[in-house]
Amino acid sequence: AFAPLNSVTESDITHFATILSPSSLLSTLSPTSTSPEELDQFNNDWMGRFRGNSTTVVKPKTTQEVSEILKRCYEKRIGVVPQGGNTGLVGGSVPVNDEVILSLANMNKVRSFDPVSGILVADAGCILQSLTDYVAPHNHIMPIDLGAKGSCQIGGNVATNAGGLRLLRYGSLHGTVLGLEVVLPDGTILDQLTTLRKDNTGYDLKQLFIGAEGTLGVITAVSILTPPAPQASNNVILALPSFDKVLPLYQVVKQQLSEILSAFEFIDRTAYDLAVKHGQGRALSDEDVEGAECFVLVETSGGRREHDEEKLSHLLETLFEADKPLINTGVLSQSPAQFSSLWALREGVTEAVSKEGKAYKYDISVPLSSFKDVVDGTREHLHSRGLLHDKAVKHVLGYGHVGDGNLHLNIVADAYLPEIEDALEPYIYQVVASHRGSISAEHGIGAMKTHALHYSKDKVSIGLMKKIKEMFDPRGIMNPGKVLE
Ligand code: FAD
Ligand code: MLT
Ligand code: ZN
Repeated sequence: AFAPLNSVTESDITHFATILSPSSLLSTLSPTSTSPEELDQFNNDWMGRFRGNSTTVVKPKTTQEVSEILKRCYEKRIGVVPQGGNTGLVGGSVPVNDEVILSLANMNKVRSFDPVSGILVADAGCILQSLTDYVAPHNHIMPIDLGAKGSCQIGGNVATNAGGLRLLRYGSLHGTVLGLEVVLPDGTILDQLTTLRKDNTGYDLKQLFIGAEGTLGVITAVSILTPPAPQASNNVILALPSFDKVLPLYQVVKQQLSEILSAFEFIDRTAYDLAVKHGQGRALSDEDVEGAECFVLVETSGGRREHDEEKLSHLLETLFEADKPLINTGVLSQSPAQFSSLWALREGVTEAVSKEGKAYKYDISVPLSSFKDVVDGTREHLHSRGLLHDKAVKHVLGYGHVGDGNLHLNIVADAYLPEIEDALEPYIYQVVASHRGSISAEHGIGAMKTHALHYSKDKVSIGLMKKIKEMFDPRGIMNPGKVLE
């Protein structure tokens, strides 16, 4: 256990003012005059579920400034929460008490890009979409894509080891991130910002910061391998009569599309209906959705349009012609606008759910064959507790990344209520553990799941994680209360 942390004082603010420009320091403590409301956007998480009470937000512009801020916080035992785009879904990006919020928003420059190797080096605060736009004229894409691309930062992506919609094709950030620059809790700058694809020189320290959720240090820059942009992309939404067709469908799709398959994403009927209700993408025709229990979005990315279209058409023929068709219908995009609209039906579920109500989000890895049972089982469980009605839980839905074995189980309620949480936990974690699954496939542990870590990690692993934390952060100032209890 770490010694208790201290609150920021006026003398700390005076000290921060010697490091930062005036516009980079927001504090309700004197000598600046920020109102608490101005800090709301930093203290509240994206879902409106987790809330901190920080008095002070610092927005350094350079790695050196980050280092000097951390040095002071380390000396004074002040907690620090690194914050990127604040789109995290597990309460990791907001304080649990009154820690200083260190926003990376002012560190947003590309440092270098090599169009031959595709290696991009960027400040951690660069927004993912802006990096996509930066590499596009060079015919490259980012190896990661997710619904929050317009606000999440590359540093936040790396800190959470975000998965997203391209993992099936380009693998995880543990593979595509080549180097990192990190400021350690005592202010030491760790320069591992290499641009080498191969570097077997002992322990690969940068891997520890990928997915550490800001508990070991502040990532200030990222070196990442960007793949060449595909010459042709297509997508199709397939309407399935029943969930049991998803697995055989995935097998056929993988086999037939082979190297051009780039996404295989799943939404159940409730998720689809909510996406449409809240204006995410264009609804399919009534005929197309009639009798559909769930939908799969397939994307192809390849080198030659005619070749890919031929493969897709052949796939659709096979799916319709089989003795027992695996799909009811398939809607193939015919234009770039329709391509985006089909994607929006899947990517927009998160936004739709947040408009519908308050969401309990469980991001789990379980065997693909059990996706439906887990969703239906949770619905029945809530029903048996008398919680499935208008005033409590409105919807239980499932969507996610089939190819990665990652189900997003969402429970949408009118409000966050203790009786709903009591019904959901530990129930869902026990179900996950019974499958030897993961309680967090891609969103992380944050503040939401620290108490549940043991459902997916054994004692030996948690013990080693604690030792690593103590070694990097002996005073426990970095993102306290996150990942580890
Ligand atoms: P924040 O939310 O600000 O922070 C997240 C965590 O990282 C916190 O613990 C924070 O302390 C830490 N952190 C942030 N920046 C740094 C840094 N520079 N150094 C050290 N620690 C840091 N996630 C997925 O995995 N896949 C998805 O498909 C996906 N889709 C999403 C869609 C929507 C609409 C939304 C709202 C979220 C989605 N997420 C997804 C979750 C979230 O967007 C990702 O986790 C994202 O990577 C977080 O980036 P951020 O910059 O917003 O980080
Ligand atoms: C997604 O796959 O859409 C994201 O992980 C966000 C979510 O789970 O809602
Ligand atoms: Zn996801």
